Amino acid sequence: MNSENILNILAIGDIVGRAGRKILHNRLQGLVDLYAIDYVIANGENAAGGMSITPAIVSELLSMGINVITSGNHIWDKKEVLKIINNEPSLLRPANFPEGNSGNGYKIDNCRGVKVCVINLQGRSMMAPIDCPFRKFDEIYNEVKDISDIIIVDFHAEATSEKKAFGWYADGRVSAVFGTHTHVQTSDEEILPEGTGYITDIGMTGAFNSVIGMNKEQSIQRFLTQVKVKYEVASGNPKINGIIMKIDQKGKTMSLQRLIV
Ligand SMILES: [Fe+2]
Ligand SMILES: [Fe+2]
Repeated sequence: MNSENILNILAIGDIVGRAGRKILHNRLQGLVDLYAIDYVIANGENAAGGMSITPAIVSELLSMGINVITSGNHIWDKKEVLKIINNEPSLLRPANFPEGNSGNGYKIDNCRGVKVCVINLQGRSMMAPIDCPFRKFDEIYNEVKDISDIIIVDFHAEATSEKKAFGWYADGRVSAVFGTHTHVQTSDEEILPEGTGYITDIGMTGAFNSVIGMNKEQSIQRFLTQVKVKYEVASGNPKINGIIMKIDQKGKTMSLQRLIV
């Protein structure tokens, strides 16, 4: 832990395929050392070939020092994920998928004596009409608030408005809300009036010589032809996008800083 009982928590934006995993292999440990990071959250919904994640990639990411892998709409794209999603507590899927789905939507970890709860939710604007993320949040919040010191939400959503609304909705109840899914980092990080750190999107970790991590020629073809041309993960100009939050052991966020490596 850093000085004066402040935890430094790193959140990494959507890891896209091999390019994303490779730069994390090369750079994550250095970042952890440089910023004295205590806890690492990473969104892994695109970690396997741009879609979903596999048991082997979950092990690979956890072995790099990632403490919890959040996800989003692509989590179900690879069937292998079902083999582990019920018994790997460090792999989350959005909590507001309807009942009957496998997996867990939140996790509480003990990080140097501080209870850190990470909740994964997914928006509904321009996305699948799953259960209400606001009401699901209330339900989980009531379960975890007395047994967690720090609560952080990965709100995986397309619409800026839905993410902003959720930030206000959770303000004062959680330490931080960060958005994922668009793969483009926004520069609107702030501490909301009741103390919750907020950013609309933390960006992506992968090849930036691309359209949101995927091969740009294939993407252009899709837009030109309106046919679902197969996407492949891009390579070239790899970057890590994320944020570093400084949060005290009572859950108060001191700062939320964007990171581009
Ligand atoms: Fe994504
Ligand atoms: Fe997504």
